[in-house]
Amino acid sequence: MRIVKGVGEMQNFSREQRAKGRTIGLVPTMGFLHEGHLSLVREAVKQCDCTVVSIFVNPTQFGPNEDLDSYPRDFERDKKLCEKEKVDAIFFPQEQEMYKKPLTFVEVKELSRLLCGKSRPTHFQGVTTVVAKLFNIVRPHRAYFGLKDFQQFVIIKKMVDDLNFDLELVGCPIVRERDGLAMSSRNHYLSPEERKQAVVLNRALSKAQKMFGSGEKNPRKVRKAVLDCIAATSSRVDYVEIVDSESLQPVQEIKKGNLIALAVFFGKTRLIDNRLFE
Ligand code: PAF
Repeated sequence: MRIVKGVGEMQNFSREQRAKGRTIGLVPTMGFLHEGHLSLVREAVKQCDCTVVSIFVNPTQFGPNEDLDSYPRDFERDKKLCEKEKVDAIFFPQEQEMYKKPLTFVEVKELSRLLCGKSRPTHFQGVTTVVAKLFNIVRPHRAYFGLKDFQQFVIIKKMVDDLNFDLELVGCPIVRERDGLAMSSRNHYLSPEERKQAVVLNRALSKAQKMFGSGEKNPRKVRKAVLDCIAATSSRVDYVEIVDSESLQPVQEIKKGNLIALAVFFGKTRLIDNRLFE
């Protein structure tokens, strides 16, 4: 497995792979890999001749008072996990390699201002900028993203369509802990008590699905039930919204395929989760 730190070296590696007729799968990550990331890696290894995992804690997607400095990092552990999964290369650039006083940013308007964008107004511009750069550096045929970050996936899809990136996006299902908590590197921040309480998110989403399954189509009633469920814990809700899964705009009546998405703070840790109504 190659560890590639330079942009030029990564571009050469990908050029060689393409020249040999090999398909490249990219799994973009910020490291501290968990089963959610590994499910993307396994999918890439299955579908592509060459799998590249990028590990870069991207500063431009963190707001001024967010957790950039404390974001968990463990490259040696990540390396072992990637080796085990038969990853071909890790792209592991330093910040100076990725950002040289840039004046160019990629912004997907409107979609980036909804849901998480309301409380994290610069977040998605940071994500789309770094993902566009990774696409230009790694030149993948396919790129794999987890659907826990559903809004991120919708926004990246729009960017790929708008800017004609020649690649296929693959969205992979949320991977959950045994008790239902969606896997996230940020779960690491939770105290034992917060960790116990955080299972309420999946329970609240299940409650929403159950109500819809029993015929409830009123988003206000379903949202209220979800909020009531969460209110039983000592958490702080950032948002709970029921939206169209493409436009991310609120719906007046819930239909199959609509999305319920939420963000909730447990202590200082902000967790997100979502579900598509079935
Ligand atoms: O989902 C993430 O881990 C990040 O937002 C991504 C896509 C790797 C960009 O930094």
